[in-house]
Amino acid sequence: MKLVLATAAVGVALYIVYRRRRVSAEEGEPQWLRDPDTPPSSPQSGSSLPSRRSYSPLVFRSNSNQPVVADEMVIDTPVARKHLHTVKHTLSKNTDALQLWVADMELESPPHVVDAIVQRASEPTFGYTIQPSLIWTRVASWLVAHQNWAHAPSPDAFIFSANVVVSFCNALRALTREGDAVVVMVPSYQPLQQCVSGSGRRLVLHPLTRAADGTFEMNLPALAATLRHEGATALLLLSPHNPGGRVWRTDELMALADACAENDVLVVSDEIWADWVLPGPSGLAGKDGFVPFSRVANRCRHITLNAPTKTFNLAGLHASFLVIEQPALRRAYLAYVEPATMHFGSAFATTALLAAYDDQPSRAWLRAATAHVRANATWLTAELNARLPGLVSALPLQATYLIWLDFAGLVAALELTRDGGDDLEEFVLREAGLCLSPGSEFDPTGASDACMRLNAACPRGMIEEAAQRLCDAVEARRSARQASSRTST
Ligand SMILES: Cc1ncc(COP(=O)(O)O)c(C=O)c1O
Repeated sequence: MKLVLATAAVGVALYIVYRRRRVSAEEGEPQWLRDPDTPPSSPQSGSSLPSRRSYSPLVFRSNSNQPVVADEMVIDTPVARKHLHTVKHTLSKNTDALQLWVADMELESPPHVVDAIVQRASEPTFGYTIQPSLIWTRVASWLVAHQNWAHAPSPDAFIFSANVVVSFCNALRALTREGDAVVVMVPSYQPLQQCVSGSGRRLVLHPLTRAADGTFEMNLPALAATLRHEGATALLLLSPHNPGGRVWRTDELMALADACAENDVLVVSDEIWADWVLPGPSGLAGKDGFVPFSRVANRCRHITLNAPTKTFNLAGLHASFLVIEQPALRRAYLAYVEPATMHFGSAFATTALLAAYDDQPSRAWLRAATAHVRANATWLTAELNARLPGLVSALPLQATYLIWLDFAGLVAALELTRDGGDDLEEFVLREAGLCLSPGSEFDPTGASDACMRLNAACPRGMIEEAAQRLCDAVEARRSARQASSRTST
């Protein structure tokens, strides 16, 4: 008996030391985030990885809202990620800020995908691995079931790629010529713009316009004119669009396909966000919901880029794919990537793809995750309208977990400069303690300088804290301005 008690006591002591060390690995995390004594609740987790329990020393407390429950899952479990060498936490411009920039989640990946990875890691060999055609059969079914594809592409049409940005660079190099004009609608995800100039192609920016409620619109006559005047050979379509989360309607896509076919322009349709069309106020994303470009392409040359990485928070596993159904385009693409074996992935990419496109568990997790983010977005929009009316507003979110915030009112009210020491980004970063993605990153034309993108794929408490910080910073600035105007009069 004594021996049992002594063993138990040693076990408890070791666990406490371990927990303390894990928490101290989070040194630099603000105190209010830290709650090492509260075990994280993880009702959706079925993972067999015991140490995952201790990966969540951070707890965001939600003051006003119960967690969203969908499919009996709660997607609100806080995660600590700093020690995992994340881009978001390591390369932040202010590591003490709330990190709401890079488009990955401050939420756990689906437990069945985590379990598959853990199981694969427990097999102690990591030799060359292929992507078996079972993956592509699963992906094809997923595209039909979840992304509205009219047909299941044949497994031959799929090509593995480490990630979507790589696929776009490769596609430009394989399917266009040096100096060719490539049209990109802005604001848009910046690394893809860089691919164009970095590949020796000419980047032609086409500005999206804004509807009365702020949502982005394609100006199709102007776009068709640009394709013609510039002699463009390729166009990048982000569908749904990042930033702004716009889901393009069938009629818009058909008009785009016609204009591209007429001008013999290759459409590269990046559909990495297709699974994240949000549930919510009916009709928000149009009656058709998400429409893949393959449905409307008709005579138009096109390829599709896609991945499970945004959908299920797997970006660090580097697993994505292209769908190229037109044989001439596929041959040309493969001729470019095959010599460097860029169409092969890692052992973990294979496992991740197989698990992510396992329909039943992934469907359930995705429903719960989108419901959670929809609730975050709705809450934040209402909070900003109530507390910072006319100063900061959120674009209605049709898709993605990235909320486009318009700070034009605030910039004017606080007389923030467009660039330099007292600009919007500095204010948000240093005074509010929020690391968001600045609009200028998405739009070299300057039209988005008063906007910033906020990643809402996080626990509700983090969104609430972000709103509070922003309101406090605005209040502090206003008080300081009032005090200084009193002293100067
Ligand atoms: C539209 C779009 N395409 C591509 C990517 C990056 O994908 P990957 O990590 O597969 O290169 C992102 C990342 O946020 C994105 O928003």
